[in-house]
Amino acid sequence: MSRTSSVKNAETLAAFLHSDSRPPVLRELSRQNNHRFQAPLNLAIIGCGYWGPNLLRNFQDLPHCRVTTICDPDNDRLSAVRSLYSDLNASTDCTEVVASSEIDAVIIATPLRSHFPIAKAALEAGKHTFVEKPIAASSCEAEELNSLARRQRLTLMVGHTFLYTAEVQKLNELITCGAIGRLLYITARRMHDGLVRKDCNVLWDLAPHDLSILAYVLRKSPARVLCSGHGYLRPGAEDVVSLQLSYNDGLFVTILCSWLNPRKIREMTFVGTKGMIVYDDLEPVGKLRIYARPPDSRLSVPAQPVSIDHLDKGEPLRVECQHFLDCVRNETTPLSDGSSGSALIRILEAADESLILRKAVELESR
Ligand SMILES: NC(=O)c1ccc[n+]([C@@H]2O[C@H](COP(=O)([O-])OP(=O)(O)OC[C@H]3O[C@@H](n4cnc5c(N)ncnc54)[C@H](O)[C@@H]3O)[C@@H](O)[C@H]2O)c1
Repeated sequence: MSRTSSVKNAETLAAFLHSDSRPPVLRELSRQNNHRFQAPLNLAIIGCGYWGPNLLRNFQDLPHCRVTTICDPDNDRLSAVRSLYSDLNASTDCTEVVASSEIDAVIIATPLRSHFPIAKAALEAGKHTFVEKPIAASSCEAEELNSLARRQRLTLMVGHTFLYTAEVQKLNELITCGAIGRLLYITARRMHDGLVRKDCNVLWDLAPHDLSILAYVLRKSPARVLCSGHGYLRPGAEDVVSLQLSYNDGLFVTILCSWLNPRKIREMTFVGTKGMIVYDDLEPVGKLRIYARPPDSRLSVPAQPVSIDHLDKGEPLRVECQHFLDCVRNETTPLSDGSSGSALIRILEAADESLILRKAVELESR
């Protein structure tokens, strides 16, 4: 295989990649006047810890909605947020907030165990509901939220934020059009030191990001999961896990998650018959790197790197928040709807079971 043909293949791929730098979800943003209802939606943000204020900032910046209320049982958190947004109503009681007739939609950014009771109360009170990932602490809870939302004809969306990045949108296009051929295997590493959660293990905290990306770009579910891990920081709750997913067509995926790693790592590698893609979310530019192999070459022929650094730099969380508003107004199904949240929980449950049983667990039989 000549180097010239290898470089040419890389150039063709680069041209393809540069042809459309606006992912469909971002393009949706420009269609803001398509809304059926023009009155601004009144929102409440429930949970004002680390992530809630990020959601608040993004919703506050968007047209056609206004955050009127914040809620957190911790008065210090409420005061900290109100020092930045003094005109917001503040409450320590989420029951009162979800029942309020002034609120059209509720945004939940609380710890995992409280997602279900708050989201259930919100849907029962007729509010459109956005819940942070993971949608609930069990698949039964997630299913109940889904049927409630369907029954009430309300929007239920889960915060699978990475789906709203330009990189994952581009990754989806590349995998779908076969740019790197048939997928052989995928690895993911999501690790850092610190930011340990008290109410779940690292699997439920970090793996949802990778699992949501995989479900989106692969459009299929694993048949089997095998998970092992250890709780060094807190016995009984794993802070490092290795999760293997096997698919019926032979594709296999390995995900490594840790709260106990000196370096922050957010990386996925997709290996295919025609090339490979590395998605490194911590790269300031060129988060997606493509490695192309010359056409019809053997797998042993080294692939040439093609870097992409032109993707839209807009904040994914803003895209996600806008998408929620669009779905409420246009009565459309979110990209990360309740069902996708529920499917993800079934994988996490199977992985938990595998951790306990110390053997692979079939997903289809569950
Ligand atoms: N999508 C993402 O990229 C992303 C990033 C970070 C966190 N998250 C998710 O957001 C959620 C919150 O994470 P965090 O890091 O902000 O946690 P956090 O512990 O920093 O904040 C949670 C806040 O919720 C409050 N709270 C607890 N129970 C409540 C209740 N019943 N009503 C109102 N408030 C309540 C707590 O007092 C706290 O201030 C988690 O589900 C997490 O997985 C998502």
